[in-house]
Amino acid sequence: MDNENVRKKVMLSGIQPSGDLHLGNYLGAVKNWAALPDEFDCYYFMADLHTLTVRQDPKELRRRSTAQLAQYIACGLDPTRNTLFLQSHVHEHAELGWILNCYTMFGELSRMTQFKDKSAKNADNINGGLFTYPALMAADILLYQADFVPVGEDQKQHCELTRDIAVRFNNLYGETFKVPEPYIPKVGARIMSLSNPGSKMSKSDPQGCVFLMDKPEDLARKFKRAVTDSDTERCVRFDPENKPGVSNLMNIYSSVTGKDFAEIEKEFEGQGYGVFKPAVGEAVIEKLRPIREEAERMIADKAYLQGVYTDGAQRASAVARRTLRKVYKKIGLVEKPF
Ligand code: TYM
Repeated sequence: MDNENVRKKVMLSGIQPSGDLHLGNYLGAVKNWAALPDEFDCYYFMADLHTLTVRQDPKELRRRSTAQLAQYIACGLDPTRNTLFLQSHVHEHAELGWILNCYTMFGELSRMTQFKDKSAKNADNINGGLFTYPALMAADILLYQADFVPVGEDQKQHCELTRDIAVRFNNLYGETFKVPEPYIPKVGARIMSLSNPGSKMSKSDPQGCVFLMDKPEDLARKFKRAVTDSDTERCVRFDPENKPGVSNLMNIYSSVTGKDFAEIEKEFEGQGYGVFKPAVGEAVIEKLRPIREEAERMIADKAYLQGVYTDGAQRASAVARRTLRKVYKKIGLVEKPF
């Protein structure tokens, strides 16, 4: 059997340690990463280089980067079956990122909604990195010849641009990169803020954001205060257009319990939001409790985490190096003699 026949499909994804992990990151991404390490060759990393596009407190960035690794593991990513690493430890990301910058068009980058949102929020720091961010993300993915990229809905546009870059490069130089597919969950791909169901849950809105490391009493309070809808019907029914608050809570409840919307509507039939909201809070508390406890234990064990990310970076580097060499050769750079 040749190598191609035994090659497992590759899954790859990352999260920026620009804040603590929240329920959107978990339900939209990490929860799905843990599912299939037997069938896939899996790479998951802390996208620390990406966070530099917005000013970070260096001490906090360092703390969050390793805390995020602890949370990945606590969410079920076994480091012996998944390659877990820090993006900045594998220098090939920055190197291929530069090269792909030269194959990504100004017009394409200008259309990215994340760029438009972030530049509106950081009007005093619209730096070059913020603009060219998708080329680095493309490098993250293409270095590992990823088949699937499990992400939430908001990253679909970046994944599509990655595909366009890969196809463009392959057309110029012959088959070099695997063209990846985004892998977006049916439920949980877009979790909205609890305080403002019109915008997506994000760390920049702490009131409406549920963090994986929140204490149970904070979680209970956040869900009790969740904004529901001002319709007169006051029943639990999935209708994102007219009942965005309730539909978001149903989405969360469905993602953590595995129940579908019809079952949830039946469960809360005849009951108002005053019963539904704490029930969603309780389900989330129970889902997150073991994750938080396990992560807290690991965060205290710095040597263990260091071992995991060292091993991860070595394994990732070996793969990334192969792709980068191939790219250097194709575009005409002289092969590195060492
Ligand atoms: P980031 O760090 O903003 O988000 C990480 C992951 O969480 C998902 N997500 C959500 N899903 C559902 N509801 C939400 N409210 C929500 N908020 C965030 C995101 O879709 C994402 O999957 N550019 C990426 C990081 C990255 C990356 C990569 C991802 C860098 N390189 C290579 C995949 C592959 C980002 O900023 O995600």
